Amino acid sequence: MKNIAVLVSGGGTNLQALINAQIDGIISSGKITLVVSNNPDAYALTRAQNSGIKTVVCNKKVLLDKFEDELIAVLEENYIDFIVLAGFMCILSEKFTTRFANKIINVHPSLIPSFCGKGFYGLKVHEAALEYGVKVTGATVHFVNEIPDGGKIIMQKAVNILENDTPETLQKRVMEEAEWRILPLALEKVCSEL
Ligand code: GAR
Repeated sequence: MKNIAVLVSGGGTNLQALINAQIDGIISSGKITLVVSNNPDAYALTRAQNSGIKTVVCNKKVLLDKFEDELIAVLEENYIDFIVLAGFMCILSEKFTTRFANKIINVHPSLIPSFCGKGFYGLKVHEAALEYGVKVTGATVHFVNEIPDGGKIIMQKAVNILENDTPETLQKRVMEEAEWRILPLALEKVCSEL
């Protein structure tokens, strides 16, 4: 049984999908034992607490250049084997990604290599997809290395863009139809292969 940490920054709907998948037995090779947020006000922290999961805040704005060292210390102190970035809005350095090589996955709300990399996060990704005029988008779960959104792809799911989509309606549909489905499946796949 692997100890899984989920790193979050905001609403935590992907965290909720992971918690639900654990309850439903979709995730069985690991257990979410820790949720870490860089944002003390993230609703994701409340979701974790409601499910009895330990939470820690590593506030990047306070810790500044000690942020990653603190994050590594917290993960080590809690014997974490595997890390999920679920709406975690901080780019991690090579120091961090090599410390946990092949042990970090991320969910990104587009079909990588489209609309990804530095500056593409949250609603901005969907704004870019609509502006470009693509007819299909989706979500990707991938390993995390030193290149933002550049690690090996584990799973993807396509979502059609509709005529009247706004960034908000598209974000919601990509979450419902793709992210919340493939993130638990990808996590179970990689944990079972560890
Ligand atoms: C999700 O759409 C996630 O894919 C995206 O932010 C949202 C977080 O929502 N992540 C990124 O853009 C990372 N580059 P959540 O807090 O409700 O899970």
